[in-house]
Amino acid sequence: MIADIFFVSFLTAGISAVLAAIISVIDAIVNNYGDITIDINSGKKQLVVKGGSPLLSTLGKEKIYIPSSCGGRATCGVCKVKVTSNIGPHLPTELPFMNDEEKEMNIRLSCQIKLKQDISIDVPESLFAVQRFKTEVISLKNLCYDTKEVRLKLLEPNSISFKPGQFAQIVIPPYGKLKEQTIRAYSISSQPSHRNVLEFIIRQVPEGIATTYVHTKMHEGEQIDIIAPMGDFYVHDNTDIMICISGGSGMAPFKSILFDMFEKQIERKAVWYFHGGNTLRDMYNMELFQELEKKWPIFHFAPVLFKPNPQDNWQGETGLVTEGATNKFGKEINLAELADAYLCGSPGLIDASIKILTQAGLDASKIYYDKFA
Ligand SMILES: Cc1cc2nc3c(=O)[nH]c(=O)nc-3n(C[C@H](O)[C@H](O)[C@H](O)COP(=O)(O)OP(=O)(O)OC[C@H]3O[C@@H](n4cnc5c(N)ncnc54)[C@H](O)[C@@H]3O)c2cc1C
Ligand code: FES
Repeated sequence: MIADIFFVSFLTAGISAVLAAIISVIDAIVNNYGDITIDINSGKKQLVVKGGSPLLSTLGKEKIYIPSSCGGRATCGVCKVKVTSNIGPHLPTELPFMNDEEKEMNIRLSCQIKLKQDISIDVPESLFAVQRFKTEVISLKNLCYDTKEVRLKLLEPNSISFKPGQFAQIVIPPYGKLKEQTIRAYSISSQPSHRNVLEFIIRQVPEGIATTYVHTKMHEGEQIDIIAPMGDFYVHDNTDIMICISGGSGMAPFKSILFDMFEKQIERKAVWYFHGGNTLRDMYNMELFQELEKKWPIFHFAPVLFKPNPQDNWQGETGLVTEGATNKFGKEINLAELADAYLCGSPGLIDASIKILTQAGLDASKIYYDKFA
């Protein structure tokens, strides 16, 4: 009987091994696209790579890091590149992230393009400055019940230069049942004058891969890789009024932007910062911005609670963060002097903020945002 069980197990394992070998041979034959040339920025760089893998990961192996936030699952829409050669129509997975102008320009999701033929792409020159850094976790602090401040010391290279508002990709090591690294985007919340230590504000997403790691497994002294700096969310030159709106961990880039502006004494007629949460429990870093308001006469900090609890004893603005802003329009904020607006947070917050700002007369081209999708 035991001999029979042993024989059946042995036979099953043997069949599985043979099938796996056949599948890998078929895969190698069917998916053998040979060498592929990637032409970047009209001949500025030419790479010869093995075909068959997505453009995003292939470029990453060549140390050209296209921004991404979902690890290639076609859920963030961040990994866009302009393809200048003909590689066929957009895939259904790409279309939800493309507006008409982007479709026309053949902007594509680099994680969805499998390299099967030579390809030409245009990428911003700034991408060539993106590097992979080894870092050490030097502090983890609870800012509120679901948000942590994470500080990473750069080890190699040991210093970075970035624009306030830019983000880094944090490389989460395999853990639990996950056998592969996970890469997610996080805005840098420290100022660029701190070149050796980067700070992040990371909110726990229920069952989220990266945030569960950060909130339950990450520890001081641990080494973590990051890829940085990335993104084009930064303050544009102007001296008129600037409005910033965020919710949740959307505070991260504004902490960098606003403290950098104060440090450099950037001139603006006024700088308004609206930050929203549900109840007082969701708020953090309030004293920090209240202190900044006292030191910097042009700066106004307006925290807004959607539905404060009676025990919150809340004296500030209530309602949606967008209502907090519109309540000031035409009164404390002279709309004729409004130059630009900067938004950060969930897609819902961004869309609602764009709506009130364009209704207030601000041109859509003057509204800059990072969607934490
Ligand atoms: C440019 C950029 C900058 C970002 N900066 C920050 C930052 O500074 N701080 C920060 O905390 N996050 C930031 N994010 C979001 C971050 O990149 C991750 O998407 C987020 O932390 C979730 O990752 P995860 O691996 O934990 O969840 P995943 O495993 O990717 O997702 C798990 C599930 O949760 C859903 N989900 C994903 N994100 C959210 C969300 N925010 N709310 C509700 N459900 C969600 C997914 O659809 C999925 O079903 C930024 C994103 C972008 C694109
Ligand atoms: S990495 Fe391509 S859509 Fe997220």
